[in-house]
Formats: sequence, C-alpha cells, structure tokens
Amino acid sequence: MEDFAYRDRRLHAEEAPLEAIAAAHGTPCYVYSAGAVARRVRELRAALGERPHRICYAVKANGNLAVLQLLRTLGCGFDIVSGGELARVQAAGGDPADAVFSGVGKSAAELRGALEAGIGAVHAESREELARIERLAAERDAVAPVALRVNPALAELDTHPHLATGGAGCKFGVPMAEAFETARAAAAAPRLRLRGLACHIGSQLTDLAPLAAAARELVTLADRLRDAGIALEYLDFGGGLGVRYRDEAPPPAAAWAGALGAALGDRPLTLLLEPGRFLVGNAGVLLTRVEYLKRTAGGCFAVVDAAMTELLRPALYDAWHAILPVRRDLGREPVRCDVVGPVCETADRLGRDRTLAVAAGDLLAVFSAGAYAAAMGSAYNSRPAAAEVLVEGGRVELVRERGRAEDLYAGERLRPETA
Ligand code: LLP
Repeated sequence: MEDFAYRDRRLHAEEAPLEAIAAAHGTPCYVYSAGAVARRVRELRAALGERPHRICYAVKANGNLAVLQLLRTLGCGFDIVSGGELARVQAAGGDPADAVFSGVGKSAAELRGALEAGIGAVHAESREELARIERLAAERDAVAPVALRVNPALAELDTHPHLATGGAGCKFGVPMAEAFETARAAAAAPRLRLRGLACHIGSQLTDLAPLAAAARELVTLADRLRDAGIALEYLDFGGGLGVRYRDEAPPPAAAWAGALGAALGDRPLTLLLEPGRFLVGNAGVLLTRVEYLKRTAGGCFAVVDAAMTELLRPALYDAWHAILPVRRDLGREPVRCDVVGPVCETADRLGRDRTLAVAAGDLLAVFSAGAYAAAMGSAYNSRPAAAEVLVEGGRVELVRERGRAEDLYAGERLRPETA
C-alpha cells in the first residue's frame, strides 16, 4: 500500500494529503490512486509477457467512470455482468468489442443491447441462455459471438463461502459434465460463433492450486473440442486473485500468470483474465470523520460518518479492513473501540476491537476500499452517495460528486391528494 503512506505524520494518497482532500470534498469520500492501479496493470502485463493475452477488468469491482477510463487507457478490456455495466463502459469511452459479458441471469433486453452494441462475446452460463442468444441473433439476422462459462468441479475453496463461485451446487456456469456437449452444440449452431471457454471459481483466493486446477480442466476441455474439430480463440480463466487486507499472503501476479501459462502450455490460444480486486482493491481508501467517541459500560465506539452503506464487506463477510488515523501522533490516548457507522443496524460496524489514538473530529482512513466498496454502496437510511476522488501524483480530481438529498427520491412520485 505504498501509494497511501505517512509523510510528515500525515497520510497521503500519492502526493496528495488526505486532510486536504477531506477539506475540499468532505467525508465520507473514497480516494483512489491512479498510480496504484497502473502499477498493478503493468505488473500483470509483465507477468504475462509475450503470451497473447487480454486483461478484461471486472467492472463490478469498481465501476466509477474515471476508473474505467483509466483502465481503458492502460489497455484493458472489460468483464461486465449487466446492461448497466455495459452502459458504464460505453460512457467511459470503452469499446463493447473489448468487453465480455458474464452473468448467470442475463435478460433478453440486456443480451439484445449487448449484441447491438457489438459485444466481444457473451459468456453463456447455460443451455437455456444459449438458446435465448440464438433466438436473439436470428431476430437480428446476425451471428452472436459467445463463449461458454463452465463450472469446474472443484472441492472446497479457501475463501469466504459467499465468494466461492465454482463447485457443485453453485448457480454459476455449465457443469463440467455437460460442458463438452454444450460447447459442441454451440459450435454447430449457425447463429453462434463459439470463441472460447471461460471460468471463474471464486474471489479473494490466496492459494493458486484451485486456480491452476480449474485452468487445467478448461484446457482439457479445449483439447477435447480441438480433437473434435472445434478450434477456439481464447480461454478465460476469470479473476479471483486475492489481495492483502490484513496478513494474507496472496501469490504475486507472476505466480498466477505462471500457473495459468503452464496449464495452457504452447497451445495457440489467447489467455484472458478478468481481475477486479487485484487491480483496484488496494488502490483506494475510504476517508471518514469521527463524529463521536462514545464510551458506554458495554464498550467504546468511534462513531464515524461512513457506514455499511459505503463499505458493506465487514457486515456481509465479516471482512477485516485496516483503519488508520489520517494524522499520526497527535498525542491522543489510544482507545480500544469498535469503529461504527450511523446506520441503524448493529451490523453497521467497519472495524471491531481496534486500538486507535483518536478523538472526535479526527479523520480516519479505511484501507482496501478500491474494490467492492463504492460498487456495493447503497442509500439505506437515505444516505446520499459519498464523493469519489482520483489522485494521480499531486493531482486530485473529483470523479463523483457527493449525492444530494434530492437524488435519493429522484424518480419517485407523490399521489394526487384529494381534498
Ligand atoms: N469474473 C467474474 C465472472 C466474477 O464473477 C468476478 C467476481 C470477477 C471476474 C472478479 O473477481 P475478483 O478478481 O475481483 O476476485 N463482493 C465480494 C466479491 C464478489 C466477487 C464476485 N465476482 C467482495 O467484496 O469480496
């Protein structure tokens, strides 16, 4: 997290002091480091080396337009899972041809929109979906580019159960046992062009073994298809590489790329990846101000102005995020406290049992808020959206205005009142 470091006892994002950002844009506020994102992309690219590859950033991790624009200028394509994400990619200047469309429940309207826009490939997750895509392609008198997302039959994954997407009993992908026949049928369908195979087994993985095992399953399937006369263009091994939140030791990009490359060998296939968290997770912090230091017989609470509405992960997954004061060594007495938000839910806790040298009015930074933070935000308790800022060197740009109260009910209607 070298992009967020103390200088002169003040926490900075690259060259920009977080105190100045809070003064200019208020709190809660997400602060992203462009340099951190660029470094991750370069790291992954270097790891993939000469191998033909394409990095399709998983928009769901952080769909802010300026973040998408940054990733586009860094040469990334996109992995989208909804019509809304496609609209974001286009609004950020992205070419739908550089995007793949994943997701288990794409609606006819979403598929129609994606085909019309010229999507790179629809990653179909069932025979039923393939039938729908064929019908929509016929409607347009066109041929739809598709890939098949398969669900490798893996044993337990070393991640939170909510984050495991491969394995039996999971809604995602076509079960391995049906994959060959389904792919063969897709390849034979005149309205479909089968471009590749895809998988994504889970997220925040810190062990390469299951990722490599899934890759081998995909390669085996591709070999069988090749032997049956079906040539593919690419294999998409999904995202899932974890990052360090606390003391995890995720493998470096080079090991990930190495394991997948080894599975692929010298087959003439492009390697696709769909990383989200790896690229942006540690490239952001959530800036928040302490409203009260509340001491009760039951404990001490640092009540801050950010909440589960800005960072749901602790409430939803019991996830741990580092929380540090923006100004260090102010001579505050360290207190042991829970860091909680103002939302009326006991689960609204950003950090449990932290020792913090803070007082009311101080700023805190909640780390690892680049992925699945703003993207999972909600307006619960009628909280307007937080501001988002992108820093590059010393340059600070507001990339999302703080929401206003009237945004909360835009689109709602009062009924006529009769006297
Ligand atoms: N591709 C597909 C098809 C996915 O479903 C996902 C994530 C990704 C790529 C990107 O995975 P990543 O590289 O970021 O691990 N809200 C959870 C994470 C859910 C991930 C869902 N799918 C969290 O906050 O940890």
